[in-house]
Amino acid sequence: MTSPTLLHLDASARRRSFSRELGDAVAGAWRTAHPGATYLHRDLALTPVPQITEAWTELCDHVLEHGITDPARYREAVRTPEQAAAWAVVEPLLAELVAADVVLIATPMYNFSVPASLKAWIDQVTFPKMSLAGRRFVVAYARGGAYGPGTPRHPYDHQERYLRDFFAGHFAIPEEAMDFLGTELVNARVDPALAARRTAHDASREAALAAARKAGGAW
Ligand SMILES: Cc1cc2nc3c(=O)[nH]c(=O)nc-3n(C[C@H](O)[C@H](O)[C@H](O)COP(=O)(O)O)c2cc1C
Repeated sequence: MTSPTLLHLDASARRRSFSRELGDAVAGAWRTAHPGATYLHRDLALTPVPQITEAWTELCDHVLEHGITDPARYREAVRTPEQAAAWAVVEPLLAELVAADVVLIATPMYNFSVPASLKAWIDQVTFPKMSLAGRRFVVAYARGGAYGPGTPRHPYDHQERYLRDFFAGHFAIPEEAMDFLGTELVNARVDPALAARRTAHDASREAALAAARKAGGAW
């Protein structure tokens, strides 16, 4: 068996970040379990991926119109200098994604969803009818409140729900090849109105870190 590859993305705007902490725990456990494996890390907050351009949409339309579904053939869509410039942004991002056996995304919840830094990456690497089946997608998330099943804010969770739907709908990843680990109630550390939830936050963080260490060594 060839040596596996982990692609680890960070998206938090801050360094002292709970999603970074959790993602690092997953990556650390994975790297310990796979000595000599390839580890790719991209910090989408520190080095942002640009927004897609009109030329990118032309590449996308060409791929759709010509039924091109193999990422190795996407470059055939390049016909103008503007499209070449758009492809120069996509190519390295896509190469990392396609090379990965495990894609680890560490992300905060921003405004009930994912940060623009992560969404910009998603927009760049996602082409019509592509399949990344066979890979595992792992999300290490943090959020200020509580959004679990049964909580009043559960319907507002467009972070986990969005990513699950996106992985399944655009990358053809089955539910069993997705893992979601999260630290909740982070705002209890700073919001006096949530002081009573600090213990629940601490428990959520400890449970998530334990799950991250265990899961990171499991695949
Ligand atoms: C711009 C912004 C928007 C946020 N929106 C939400 C939100 O809608 N719901 C929530 O529970 N927390 C929200 N938070 C709190 C963050 O999810 C929380 O601080 C989390 O820990 C951030 O992840 P990090 O620790 O990895 O930076 C927001 C924080 C920021 C900076």
